[in-house]
Amino acid sequence: MTFPNPKLSRRHLLAASAAVVVAFSAASCTRGESPTPVPTPGGHRPSPSDPWRPVAHLTAEKNWLNDPNGLVYHAGTYHAFYQYNPRGNSWGNMSWGHSTSQDLVHWEQQPVAMEASLEEEVFSGCIVMDKDNASGLGSAETPPMVAIYTSAYGKNGPLPQGSQAQSVAFSLDDGTTWKKYQGNPVLNLAPTNNNFRDPKITWYEPGHYWVMTTVVADAQVVKLFKSTDLLHWEYLSDFSGVGAQGGLWEVPELLHMDVADSTTKKWVMLLSINPGGIAGGSGMQYFVGEFDGTRFTAENAAATDAPLNESQWLDHGADYYAANSISGAPGDKPVLLGWMGNWDYAQDVPTTPWRGSMAIPRELTLVRGAKRLELRSAIARVAHETLNHSGEVKSKNLTVGSSTMDLGPDFSGRTQVIELDMDLTSAREAGVLLRQSSASKDGLRISYNRESGGIRVDRSKAGTSNFSEKFSPFHEVAVPSPGSKVHLTILLDSSSVEVFAPVGTAVISDTFFPDWDNTGASAFSIEGETDFTVQSRSL
Ligand code: FRU
Repeated sequence: MTFPNPKLSRRHLLAASAAVVVAFSAASCTRGESPTPVPTPGGHRPSPSDPWRPVAHLTAEKNWLNDPNGLVYHAGTYHAFYQYNPRGNSWGNMSWGHSTSQDLVHWEQQPVAMEASLEEEVFSGCIVMDKDNASGLGSAETPPMVAIYTSAYGKNGPLPQGSQAQSVAFSLDDGTTWKKYQGNPVLNLAPTNNNFRDPKITWYEPGHYWVMTTVVADAQVVKLFKSTDLLHWEYLSDFSGVGAQGGLWEVPELLHMDVADSTTKKWVMLLSINPGGIAGGSGMQYFVGEFDGTRFTAENAAATDAPLNESQWLDHGADYYAANSISGAPGDKPVLLGWMGNWDYAQDVPTTPWRGSMAIPRELTLVRGAKRLELRSAIARVAHETLNHSGEVKSKNLTVGSSTMDLGPDFSGRTQVIELDMDLTSAREAGVLLRQSSASKDGLRISYNRESGGIRVDRSKAGTSNFSEKFSPFHEVAVPSPGSKVHLTILLDSSSVEVFAPVGTAVISDTFFPDWDNTGASAFSIEGETDFTVQSRSL
């Protein structure tokens, strides 16, 4: 199969108010330790000519990126490799780009790690440190960094054009240069290798072997394999027949996690689905269960014909996909990096010379919910500490009654972290408008409804959206026990927002493309009064 038109080929290939202000208490401003804005790699800051450039999220200086790949922490450095087109600003020539970070907020772009050739494109995969040199690809003194990726074969490859199989590459210089293994591919599903991709590896301590999860994407099957040397892989089992089925299953991962406040551990399967996600288009579901060394069995999983909201979702926004964990990351919680994109419109978004950004890294906790075990998400500790050391903190207490109130210049901006406490003492709904236009008063609307417990992000009047009919207008998730009080953590970064519900029960990650001049911020309260405490730190 050749891919002359990246868009078509990808689809083909991947199947593919009476304003009454009741009270207002004066603003209190505290100086942060470092009042300077976050410096960005290459000095990139949003500007009128590059208005949607994030400052606290990984982007490539130029060109297209999608899935994070090969996430590994090694010798004090976080490495993110990712699906990257070195030659253009849309999907194609899939290669592994590379960026590094010390704090998960500031990223330095490195040379392309593995570039597409006529023979193969380098699709998604993972990296592990082979510390005992079990693969023999390094030495005892210089253990190799081993990447397992999907070879998407073009002309003159070892498998027919259009096949996908798993291959190995290794680095002996901490991820700077890569050599492909001569015996590639190391794993295929002969006689057919259609849509067989996205290897991710986890160490299975009881059996002393590596376990790889992969997918046959269009069959909605996760396939598990094991190996002791990362080169020879033995089939273990299939996982299928539960959860959302409305699209391709992609980028699976098995995580072994502590259950909070207990001595129990459980296995969690992360799985991306496209289309068929909870917010439309691409989304990420997860399953909690047991893994016995051979087979993963999900517990309390939604049936395949169940409504989508019975499945468990990592994010309820439209732009969180292909997230996977950073191998070897310090701490006892998985740290995930996800792509802030949706295949429904990612190739049409109006950014240039770059397209695609990663989400803020998150850490996951597994807790007992009302009916079943659930994941909770928080901004990864290292990233949160970094964000907490940037900019200046401004805070304000105010009460708003059935009206919209300008928060004033201290709270306006394009890039900020906001801690928002709202007590809807008598209001039905309350929230904030960000990136607001001074003329029309439209903006990104983030709201909470006391009765339904629904947190909603409405991007329908937040900026340009005429690039795609599939750019969905708003996304909503209900908090488990609605009440009058709610706390939201909001990360606003030029062209994206990530809204964390109380105690991380849910996240809404959305991209949006506001006018450069729209920087206003307001608080609103509908049908009654709301007490607000707004704390903002500019980035
Ligand atoms: C997920 C995905 C993967 C594939 C990669 C290609 O977004 O479709 O399944 O490996 O992107 O870029």
